[in-house]
Amino acid sequence: MLELTDKTAALTPQTAQMGEGKSYYLYTFGCQMNEHDSEVIAGILESTGFTAAAGPEEADLIVINTCAVRRKPEEKVGALLGMLQPLKEKKEDLFIAVGGCMTQQEEIAAYIKKRFRHVNLVFGTHSLPRFPQLLEKAMSSRKTVVDIEEYTDSRGNLPISRQDRFKAWLPVIYGCNNFCSYCIVPYVRGRERSRPMEEILTEARSLARAGYLELTLLGQNVNSYGQDLPERCDFADLLWELNRVDGLRRIRFMTSHPKDLSPRLIEVMARGEKICEHLHLPVQSGSNRILKLMNRRYTRERYLELVRSLKENIPGVAITSDIIVGFPGETEEDFQDTLDLVKEVRFDNAFTFIYSPRSGTKAAQMEDVVPRAQKEERLQRLAEIQQEISKEINAELLGKVVEVLVEGRSKNNPEMLTGRTRANKLVHFASTEDLTGRLLPVKISEARAFNLIGEAVSGEEPVNFSG
Ligand code: 5AD
Ligand code: SF4
Repeated sequence: MLELTDKTAALTPQTAQMGEGKSYYLYTFGCQMNEHDSEVIAGILESTGFTAAAGPEEADLIVINTCAVRRKPEEKVGALLGMLQPLKEKKEDLFIAVGGCMTQQEEIAAYIKKRFRHVNLVFGTHSLPRFPQLLEKAMSSRKTVVDIEEYTDSRGNLPISRQDRFKAWLPVIYGCNNFCSYCIVPYVRGRERSRPMEEILTEARSLARAGYLELTLLGQNVNSYGQDLPERCDFADLLWELNRVDGLRRIRFMTSHPKDLSPRLIEVMARGEKICEHLHLPVQSGSNRILKLMNRRYTRERYLELVRSLKENIPGVAITSDIIVGFPGETEEDFQDTLDLVKEVRFDNAFTFIYSPRSGTKAAQMEDVVPRAQKEERLQRLAEIQQEISKEINAELLGKVVEVLVEGRSKNNPEMLTGRTRANKLVHFASTEDLTGRLLPVKISEARAFNLIGEAVSGEEPVNFSG
């Protein structure tokens, strides 16, 4: 569904119809913020007449939205650009645009321009409001156009072509001021810029009117929402206001930084009936020494205290995390601290990563003495322990009825529907009917580490909302 907004007017006579009769294909790498940026890119393109192509071969324009957080997604983009070369040779008028976090870095933008001559436009994370003009410029030029200038003004409302009809991403704050020593994000997404509360509420209300049931509020660190706004408000205030929007049934958010998680936010999570009992709270490491080197500005003791408070105040809360192993200088003892913390917290799920040096960050200059094989072995040990814990926690749901928001057919089994519980757990259940977009009670019959199997039950209200 294409949402047109006031900013659609920013299209000039040259750009207003530049996509008429043409189609686009979009590749997206990385986090939810990037997924949403791609919805904005699609929205902008559709507002100028482009339509979505079924595949890259059919498209007149290919856009790649890149991620820079680790090396792997960057390598994938490199491989994809190589793969697209023959396509461009076959189809001379094909346009290729590359943007996002990777290309926001000057050296990488310059490298892509030089190395991949079949790319027509290189743009950064700040370029979206000017995307139509940039594309028009690239289309009428024989040279690669590069735009990675950083802008600090608000992005405003841009057209959005949303992927789903019942759950929506809603960015509340862009950028990050934290400079965790391993992280590239503050360099490629700029400083924190909160959207005005009224702008967010207006978007939330219009989504609710359009039938959306679930919102996921996005930000690199949603907990610092409001600190840069002239009005005095914080993330807890914003959540409370959103909880009052009629028609919405579920509100989620990510990501939270432990150093900014306030008691008021925990209280609002406990009291707001629409606010899901799930918190993604990346710990990154369980060692105080490593946390300090990471510039995380909390200790393991403080983190454990937060977890205790969350569990005490929000019955059945699911806590998930991100953990990095093999940070420069991580000893076996440091790693043991991480394992101990994981066993103590008992995360519902954790995304585990091997540290990947990012050029320009503080950690990239630290001496990295941990051998690769040891990093991989640590990752394996951590993942096994976490998997066991996830399985045990999920097993507690056996026989219980949970509320599932149905997302569609399972990709691996077309006889099953897939959806998520309020705690963000993936549930598969058999159905011949297409119940996409419905909130249903499902009884859990099988529990695994990464998903649950259940049966739809009628006439029974969900008894475990936090499942
Ligand atoms: N190496 C490995 N993992 C990283 N992350 C961020 N930067 C790096 C890096 N350089 C992880 C963190 C973060 C998640 C989004 O990605 O765990 O929370
Ligand atoms: Fe990166 Fe830290 Fe900011 Fe998260 S809070 S985006 S890990 S710098």
